[in-house]
Amino acid sequence: MNKIKGEKLTKNYNGVCGIKEVDIEILKGEIVVIIGPSGSGKTTLLNLLGLIDKPTEGKIYLDDIDVGKLSERQLAEIRNKKFGFIFQFFHLIPELKVIENVFLPLWIKEKKFSLDFLKEAEKYLISFGIFDKKDTYPSRLSGGELQRVAICRSLICKPEIIFADEPTGSIDKNSALIFFEFMKKFNEENGTTFVIATHNENFLQFASKVVYLIEGKIKEIEKRR
Ligand SMILES: Nc1ncnc2c1ncn2[C@@H]1O[C@H](COP(=O)(O)OP(=O)(O)OP(=O)(O)O)[C@@H](O)[C@H]1O
Ligand SMILES: [Mg+2]
Repeated sequence: MNKIKGEKLTKNYNGVCGIKEVDIEILKGEIVVIIGPSGSGKTTLLNLLGLIDKPTEGKIYLDDIDVGKLSERQLAEIRNKKFGFIFQFFHLIPELKVIENVFLPLWIKEKKFSLDFLKEAEKYLISFGIFDKKDTYPSRLSGGELQRVAICRSLICKPEIIFADEPTGSIDKNSALIFFEFMKKFNEENGTTFVIATHNENFLQFASKVVYLIEGKIKEIEKRR
């Protein structure tokens, strides 16, 4: 996939404006940082581009495919095979242990269970310093621990694009630095595209493009490289 394009994307929630007529283009290998005050539409935009939610008006193209024409099943397949998500509120599966949450996307993708999934998941849990929680259930974790599990889960399939919603909002400085390292490594070695909604200005140094949102509209798109 070389490009995601949003054309005049508008999302209304029962009359409340999420975003309004947003035009945006994300190219393979970019690190796009979406910045804006609380309520400006960052999560809304991420959910539309990540094919989790549908626009009220406007279109999204993956390369030249109009995703409005795809079935739910096709959308789910794209999300699983090509996208990784770090949700603002984590959305881990409460009935699954930490390690199971982390390897679940890999299991869905490969369709058949393999013991290698455990090894792979453990690798990320070690990197983010939460290996000792691998057999714990999410309800017993702190916010920062939940976020680190969510980060591990997003990386495990080595997706083409990672959508990250305030991915460092709950973690400490050290864990944020580890996330930056992974982001740089994935971006440089695999050409992974990142679309990040954040208040953390430390992301700006890595950005190829910064999208400033205000009240659901794009105020400015700044190209950095
Ligand atoms: N499910 C929903 N139902 C109704 N209104 C919603 C819903 N989701 C978002 N909104 C509204 O849409 C607007 C944009 O919300 P959004 O969550 O995209 O903002 P945000 O920039 O991600 O904010 P934050 O920085 O606080 O996460 C807000 O006014 C919000 O109240
Ligand atoms: Mg948000």
